[in-house]
This record gives sequence, C-alpha cells and structure tokens, in this order.
Amino acid sequence: MPPSTQPPTPNSHPQLCQFIHQQIKRSQLQRITFAQYMDWVLYHPEWGYYSTAQPKIGTAGDFFTAPHLGRDFGELLAEQLAQMWEILGQPQPFTLVEMGAGQGILAADILRHFHQQYPQIWPHLNYIIIERSPLFQVEQAQTLKSWCDRGGSIQWRQCHEIDQNSITGCYFSNELVDAFPVHQIRFRNGQLQEVYVTTNPDVPPGRPSEPQFQEVIGEPSTPKLAEYFLFLGIELNCDRYPDPYRTEVNLASLDWITEIARTLHRGFILTVDYGYSSEKYYSPMRSEGTLQCYFQHRYHNNPYIHVGYQDLTTHVNFTALENQGQLWGLETVGLTQQGLFLMALGLGQRLSALTQTEGLSLGEVLRRREALHSLINPMGLGNFRVLIQSKGLESQQPIQLKGLRGAETQDLGPLT
Ligand SMILES: C[S@@+](CC[C@H](N)C(=O)[O-])C[C@H]1O[C@@H](n2cnc3c(N)ncnc32)[C@H](O)[C@@H]1O
Repeated sequence: MPPSTQPPTPNSHPQLCQFIHQQIKRSQLQRITFAQYMDWVLYHPEWGYYSTAQPKIGTAGDFFTAPHLGRDFGELLAEQLAQMWEILGQPQPFTLVEMGAGQGILAADILRHFHQQYPQIWPHLNYIIIERSPLFQVEQAQTLKSWCDRGGSIQWRQCHEIDQNSITGCYFSNELVDAFPVHQIRFRNGQLQEVYVTTNPDVPPGRPSEPQFQEVIGEPSTPKLAEYFLFLGIELNCDRYPDPYRTEVNLASLDWITEIARTLHRGFILTVDYGYSSEKYYSPMRSEGTLQCYFQHRYHNNPYIHVGYQDLTTHVNFTALENQGQLWGLETVGLTQQGLFLMALGLGQRLSALTQTEGLSLGEVLRRREALHSLINPMGLGNFRVLIQSKGLESQQPIQLKGLRGAETQDLGPLT
C-alpha cells in the first residue's frame, strides 16, 4: 500500500481533552455530569465535534442522514409542508423553521421543491434555520446562497431570538433531538444515581491515544431526573428491573419542546428521529441505555475514545416529547414510521416511475432505486419515527395529514 498522505487521526482532540481536564479540576467535586461532558465533546465552540472542519455526514464522514441519500426525502417532506399551508388557511407569511440543519441539503431540497411545484406558496415562504454549530451555519449559507439570490427569504436565528407566539407554520427537524446531551443515570439498590465523568488517574493529561476520562457514580445533580420518571409514570424501583439498571435522560429535549411550543402561534412541529415510546425506552431489557458513538461509519458505545472526533447520540423518547408538549398546548396529531410516512407522501409512485423515466442510465436507475429503498428500509431509516404535533388549530375535525394516512399513534413495533 502506498504511504498515506493524510496525517494519522489522533485518538482524541488534545486541546478539547485538556479543556475538559481543567474544568473537572476546577469543579468542586472533581467531576462533571455526563451531560456536560457530552455537551463539550460535541459542541465546544472551538474543538467540539460539531465545531471542527472534518467531514461528519456522508461517505467521507461518520454517518449518513436521509437528506444525503438524494432529493426525495426533502421533496416528500415539502409535500407534507405544502398541505400544512392549506390546513392553516394559506398564511402569509408561512414560516418554516428547520432546527439542526446540518449542511443545508434538506433546506435546499425543500426550497427547490416549493419554487418549482408551489409557485403560489413560494412568495409567502419564510425559511428560518436554527443551528448550533457555527461551522454548519457557514456551510448552510454557502449551500443556500443561490436560493437567497433568487429572492428566497432565508434567515438564521437563535431560539431565544424568536418571540413568543410569533410563528405560523411548521418547526421541523431531522436527527436533531438524538444529538442533544443527555444525563446518564443508574438505578441501584433502590436508589437513583447519576454517572459523572472525572479524569483517569492512570493516564496523565496530554496522551490523546489513551482514555483520559473515567466514570464515577454519585447523587443526582438535579431533582429533575427523579421528576422525569415520575412525570412519565416509569417506576424503575421494582422487581421487573435488573439491578443495576443504567439508562439516560434527555432533559434538554423537554426544554427544547417547551421553548418551541411557546414561540409557535399556529401550526405544527414535525420531528424525525430514531427512538421509542417511554415504555420501550425504559424496558427492563434495555439495561445499558441507548448511547451510541459513530466514528467513520462504525458504531460502538465508548464515549471516552476519539474524543472530539466521533459523534455521540441517544435514541429519542417520543412519549416525553408528547407529554411535555401537552403541558405547553401541543396536541399529538400522529406518530408514525418514516417508511410509512414517505410512502403515504408518494415514495411508492416515485419507485414505480423510475423505470419509465427517460434519459436515465441503468446505473442511475439502480442508484436511485437503492436510495429510495434505504429511506423506507424497516431495518434502517424506514424505522425512524415521525412525530407531528400541532398548536392553535381551530378546526373541530381531526386533522388528516397526508403523511399520516394509514398510520396509528400507538405501538409501532421494536426499533432495531
Ligand atoms: C445529526 S446532525 C443532523 C443534521 C441534518 N438535520 C441532517 O439530517 O443531515 C444534528 C444537527 O443538529 C445540530 N444541533 C444540535 N443541537 C442543536 C440545538 N440545540 N439547536 C440547533 N441545532 C442543534 C447540530 O449542529 C447538527 O447540525
């Protein structure tokens, strides 16, 4: 093999590790919560995974998301958004807020589809992106420049900059909530405990090839952790659960749904992600939680290696989003699987039209077909969930969203 021209990827980001070491040292008990650790390794403004320039999504990165498989995901989602415009009485402006827009590919696909297929909506479209990563914001601006040049109304905002009850339209996200920092908890001998991160005494700082951090167990850092299980009616302190039982709690997802529910005046929140209902999430069988780390298209469960170079995610508890949403005036319109959602919006027709499309080579037909199949594959993206919540709709009739045709809000089977 010829020698690689790329410098070898160190196992962890040295400055990031040093920063975390210092924060641990400065803390009163020489430890930080796992949620704080996850927040820094993903979002430290200079050295966090989402703040540095190495590719993340796509072949050269660590994982794929649906928009990276072609335009179909965005175009079919746009079909659903267009129907929402009708249901809302053709509002002007019609505001779409995409949260966690990554490289801006989904935004470009949606904007193109509205421009080409819905010229009656296009002039009223107001597209807002809320993105935590400064680097992705720059990339999004580049990807969407041609749409801004064509007069598209596209803005970048922070959540707190959006006024209460000011949005009529739809908030939506793809694989956002799984990227929020989570608390790791353990239930042992009838006690709720929290997992903290501290320095590994056997590895002096400055050796990025060795795991520099380790876990310690302590009292919960906040009463919100116990309240979370009460709120969901999950009783971990019973015979059904193994001892110890470890899992995670995504408190940030509750804050998130609260914040966007407050700013939504009339419309929808559409959340696409992988996850479960509470009952399945906190099943006694799932005694190690759902944390996964993605590094160069492989996944494992050690968050203390490749620090700053790997993605960390957990599954989403959709029941928590529904219950918290209800407290803030949201109603669940439906919860379905991505495969069913996209089929209801016309993915099947796209598949059958492929062979009749003129001008496509056999190779292109096969590539497109594979991409479409990937979006609905029940062992992969097709098994993601799509949760749709609404607020402020006057209609007394149940809302019939195209993407939810044939879907039920209950149990959708196991997620693999
Ligand atoms: C797994 S990526 C998904 C990107 C894109 N939606 C896609 O499907 O390719 C998660 C995205 O959410 C962003 N993100 C994470 N937390 C966020 C927050 N609190 N507000 C806005 N964006 C956030 C990340 O920076 C990143 O762009």
